[in-house]
Amino acid sequence: MNWTSKSWRNFPIKQQPSYPDKEILKKVEEKLSSYPPLIFAGEARTLKENLAKVGRGEAFLLQGGDCAESFNDFKSSTIKNLFKLMLQMNMVLMYSTGKPVIKVGRVAGQFAKPRSSDFEEINGVKLPSYRGDIINNIEFSEKARIPNPNNMIQAYYQGSATMNLLRAFSRGGLADLNMVHQWNLDFIKDNPLGQRYDELSNKIDKAMKFMSACGLNSKNTPQLHQTTIFTSHEALLLNYEEALTRQDETTDEWYDCSAHMLWIGDRTRDLTDAHIEYFRGIENPIGCKVGPTMGEDELIELINILNPKNEEGRLNLIVRMGADTIKEYYPKLLKRVKDEELHVVWSCDPMHGNIEKSSTGFKTRNFDNILKEVEQFFEIHKEMGTVAGGIHLEMTGNKVTECTGSKSTPITDDDLSSRYHTQCDPRLNASQALELAFMLGDVIKD
Ligand code: PEP
Ligand code: CO
Repeated sequence: MNWTSKSWRNFPIKQQPSYPDKEILKKVEEKLSSYPPLIFAGEARTLKENLAKVGRGEAFLLQGGDCAESFNDFKSSTIKNLFKLMLQMNMVLMYSTGKPVIKVGRVAGQFAKPRSSDFEEINGVKLPSYRGDIINNIEFSEKARIPNPNNMIQAYYQGSATMNLLRAFSRGGLADLNMVHQWNLDFIKDNPLGQRYDELSNKIDKAMKFMSACGLNSKNTPQLHQTTIFTSHEALLLNYEEALTRQDETTDEWYDCSAHMLWIGDRTRDLTDAHIEYFRGIENPIGCKVGPTMGEDELIELINILNPKNEEGRLNLIVRMGADTIKEYYPKLLKRVKDEELHVVWSCDPMHGNIEKSSTGFKTRNFDNILKEVEQFFEIHKEMGTVAGGIHLEMTGNKVTECTGSKSTPITDDDLSSRYHTQCDPRLNASQALELAFMLGDVIKD
């Protein structure tokens, strides 16, 4: 099919940095190409099998994490809080749906950001936009905004250290079902949601005691002691992805070994552009964002290019329409894909179509709009008789104030300034994310 890990270079490409020093860029690419992969192809195949189950309605997909990971905020506590939050949401969803939850973090590589404008202007000073820590620096100065190829090396090391810790938490005992109470994060323990979670944990405790009496415990049953969190990011910076693309020795297939799953952003999914070219050749499970500008024929063509064998679990379409427009745009796309009998996993990103500016000047999202989009997503699938596979969220286990609203810990426009820490888009904090999980559990149970 005339594909190589480099063939994307012959196509038009959007949202890329222009590196001033091509020699350094080349050296970094060569170095990264010689480094060990971050994942093993067999793991990507396992995720694909799991996503095939999601597509058939036998499991649920929970994908979430930072909008953009940060070199400065690289701490064990941030990773641990995200891990605990995912396990909490996993418990809530599993308990209410009775289905396994496939957990995929936006983590260990989520460093490159598409931007709506190439420039940012503050008080009459105009500088190139920040494009994520893998490319340049968020600080508003001329020097900081120059793209630096060496950031790719730092992203690689931070990605591998993050992955290492996630694997350690997953296998080392923190995911043990006897630890359900400990996953409750300190700052939500005392609010109604933390209490609701505690009630659920008590039920799980009882079930664990019962199973232990039957002879099943976390010493002899790995499923009670371990978990798996897969990694994913937007593969925007193809220089980095190409360098980590490797041929699997057992199958001869090509995998992007920077993460288990990669996705294409809504702004870089043009059928004749470089990102589609790159993605069609890798065998990982992949995602593609689907926003309001996606046409019906265009979508069918995109699916056929990215998943020509109509393989289950290969392609996750991540729908991000906006609470006010999902009803207008989504059903016709869904119907077309259903009529053509194409296997895709549908998931709902209720974040990227619901960005607004607060009265206090912050880029934010309102919790009610997020809920509204999720509810409509499930309703539309119910009416169509198709599988609503999962959810894709920007969230953090840290106590931030970036999205407004929610019942458990209402955040107002005035509150946003107190802990607004995101590098890019506003994230749900742990309590908002858990509230969403409880609500989602109720909707799915229905
Ligand atoms: C994102 O997921 O952070 C993102 C930029 O999304 P989209 O491509 O849907 O705008
Ligand atoms: Co975002």
